[in-house]
Amino acid sequence: MYPDRVVSGMRPTGAMHLGHFHGALKNWIKMQSEQPCLFFVADWHALTTHYDDPAIIERSVWEMLVDWLAAGVDPSQATLFIQSKVPEHAELHLLLSMATPLGWLERVPTYKDQIENLASKDLSTYGFLGYPLLQAADVLIYRASLVPVGDDQVPHIEMMREIARRFNHLYGKEKGFEEKAMEAVKKLGSKRAKLYLELRTEYQQEGKDAALDQAQAMLDEAQNLSNIDRERLFGYLEGSRKLILVEPHAKLTVASRLPGLDGRKMSKSYGNAIALREDKDSVTKKIRTMPTDPARVRRTDAGDPKKCPVWQLHEVYSDNATRDWVVKGCTSAGIGCLECKQPVIDAIIREQEPMHERAQQYLDDPTLVRAIVADGCDKARKLAQDTMRDVREAMGLAYS
Ligand code: TRP
Ligand code: SF4
Repeated sequence: MYPDRVVSGMRPTGAMHLGHFHGALKNWIKMQSEQPCLFFVADWHALTTHYDDPAIIERSVWEMLVDWLAAGVDPSQATLFIQSKVPEHAELHLLLSMATPLGWLERVPTYKDQIENLASKDLSTYGFLGYPLLQAADVLIYRASLVPVGDDQVPHIEMMREIARRFNHLYGKEKGFEEKAMEAVKKLGSKRAKLYLELRTEYQQEGKDAALDQAQAMLDEAQNLSNIDRERLFGYLEGSRKLILVEPHAKLTVASRLPGLDGRKMSKSYGNAIALREDKDSVTKKIRTMPTDPARVRRTDAGDPKKCPVWQLHEVYSDNATRDWVVKGCTSAGIGCLECKQPVIDAIIREQEPMHERAQQYLDDPTLVRAIVADGCDKARKLAQDTMRDVREAMGLAYS
């Protein structure tokens, strides 16, 4: 069927910080060497909430791309692009909107939450309601199977799956599909054809997911099939429809949630963040002035790491020996807080050093980033156009 593609995006609404690195980018960097990955700047999504402040988007787009590259996203492995440079996303969004029930969009939990949380902005707009549908188009247009996201995005991925299923149901009818599918079954050879039909029955009549998995694996390996036949056989396994769009799955970031300077989740809006490429002196100053266990008023007062945000950073950055040293030293007043903070400062600076180095070439020569993105946009666009050809045809728009 389609290759195991990975798609994910981020909204350019400000500088990236270490929370983004630990929460998302590390995951991307791991996946880029394992599967084909497409990572994009979701500038249209940023406009859904920042439509009155486009300057910040324009500024953040290039900055964010440099941050990705600095963090280790590798343009020779992953495809990097900007959403609005692949206008096919908008076309698919429009076409999907035709058959998307309003209730599906209104029920997405982030919809009402965000309208309440961002009460200072008027988000009762058409664009904001369509946010998850645009996101569905972003992913479905590449027939991606995996979407690395945080857990807040899971309802969006679930909705994408429903959208894909509904699309295949409405438009995946092909004249003579069953006959064509049976022709394709024959091409498997008698042994595999028999197994295919058995597994199909097991899945359809007994709902055995393992049978579906096994049959799909067999099709993946069958080399003598044309793509269209393979696609038909995938569709026939699950029903009597052709699969035009693929249902993606969320790939949850293993929660290494990095706390901010005050112990709450790191976030620019809380003012507790350390930028991805923050300079050394500023990192040092921020950590040295961050709050500690309030019970340690004097150096001689014992403390409790559990009540201290510095400890949470040790949990991310320090080895066992250092953590033992902290616990003993803190609870016995054997070490001072500045002493305790030093290993965290060192670890953050060490983590950032290669990022500064990688970023330098892009800062010295901004045309490098433009070239990487131009190349990524071309690649993404070709893939998007392939899907749109099928989508238009299925929706009766392939005149000429
Ligand atoms: N909604 C995502 C977020 O806020 C950003 C995003 C837009 C996205 N399109 C996407 C993520 C497609 C994954 C796939 O983080
Ligand atoms: Fe926090 Fe370390 Fe100070 Fe204890 S010694 S209060 S863990 S900074």
